[in-house]
Amino acid sequence: MRLLPILLLIISCITVEAADEYELQYPLGLKRMPIPETNELTAAKIELGKQLYFDPRLSRDDTVSCASCHDPKKGWSNGDHFATGVRGQRGGRSAPTIINSGYSYFQFWDGRAIMLEGQALGPIQNPIEMDLTLEECVAKLNAIEGYRKQFQAVFGTDVDSVGMAKAIASFERTVLSGNAPHDKFKAGDEKALSAAAQRGSKLFFGKANCSACHAGPNFSDFAFHNIGVGMDKSEPDVGRFSETQMLGDRGSFKTPTLREIARTAPYMHDGSVKTLEDVVEYYDKGGFANPQLDEELFPLKLTPEQKADLVTFLKEGLSSEDYPDIEPPTLPK
Ligand code: HEC
Ligand code: HEC
Repeated sequence: MRLLPILLLIISCITVEAADEYELQYPLGLKRMPIPETNELTAAKIELGKQLYFDPRLSRDDTVSCASCHDPKKGWSNGDHFATGVRGQRGGRSAPTIINSGYSYFQFWDGRAIMLEGQALGPIQNPIEMDLTLEECVAKLNAIEGYRKQFQAVFGTDVDSVGMAKAIASFERTVLSGNAPHDKFKAGDEKALSAAAQRGSKLFFGKANCSACHAGPNFSDFAFHNIGVGMDKSEPDVGRFSETQMLGDRGSFKTPTLREIARTAPYMHDGSVKTLEDVVEYYDKGGFANPQLDEELFPLKLTPEQKADLVTFLKEGLSSEDYPDIEPPTLPK
């Protein structure tokens, strides 16, 4: 039979492709993530993105990688109120966590980048973060054989910035947190949350009104709100306003996820709130009054016990046993 070899050939082609296809494993509580058709996940692309993410050679003086400011050991943030880039320079905003960032269409506190692909090249070119032009960065990486080979295998090209953004975004999409006690409790495991955390959960979704904005599987509505943080300054960070020029957006910032929140202190876009206890105190007062304050904020009048319960829910309920901890990969030479 002549057909058999052809058939075998077809089958082997299919298996080769299937071998590299990557199915994201969603932990309990998370939904399917929208993945752009122009950047399907593959195992080799994710591995490449992971190397780029951890590689300080993406910065001018080889000292700063994405992981310097979004460190898996620090909740994929940096444990500091501001971020420190090349030559010790400090920016004016805190580094948000990368966890579950693949769910967010708008990236950055003010939403100025679209999707992870649109965000990834920003920090490389930012003079106080990694401080390279894309041309310089691409040339640097093209001089590293291990990267050239991988870019050929994954994209069929030498190193270029489009491929860099796609690979880094693909890696970030795999950094997920779900399957927390809150998810298990919701799925019917009544012992997953302590009595205090259960009371805190009721407050979170009820009287304390947190879920008006921290909603859905990622505890974010992915929208922008003014909760008053930093509005007491003489020249406050205007946040979303700088993108839209709409007065109502003045002092508005993207609602951050609350997953793994116990690991990412200090809090808020300016890192001005040190602990979750302080966060709850801040909301209990109704935020900081200013003309653009969101109408979902108002004095909560919580008792000390209720405040403690709410904090317990945030700490215990949203911290997963499967926290996405990973070690830096071996970097290509
Ligand atoms: C010097 C510290 C620093 C470095 C290096 C850095 N970042 Fe960031 N990152 C930040 C800060 C600060 C913000 C928030 C800035 C803002 O909103 O204006 C941010 C925001 C982000 C966001 C948006 C998250 C969200 O929820 O909106 C993503 C994604 C991200 N960075 C990924 C990366 C990647 C990928 C790299 C490496 C190519 C990188 N970062 C390098 C400090 C850093
Ligand atoms: C009106 C919408 C809204 C409501 C209601 C709301 N939040 Fe927020 N939350 C936000 C926004 C927006 C930010 C970021 C603000 C900033 O950085 O300026 C934030 C920040 C936070 C942070 C810091 C996260 C981080 O990574 O820095 C925590 C924790 C938090 N909120 C918990 C709560 C709790 C608990 C409640 C209920 C008591 C609540 N929020 C109610 C919108 C809201």
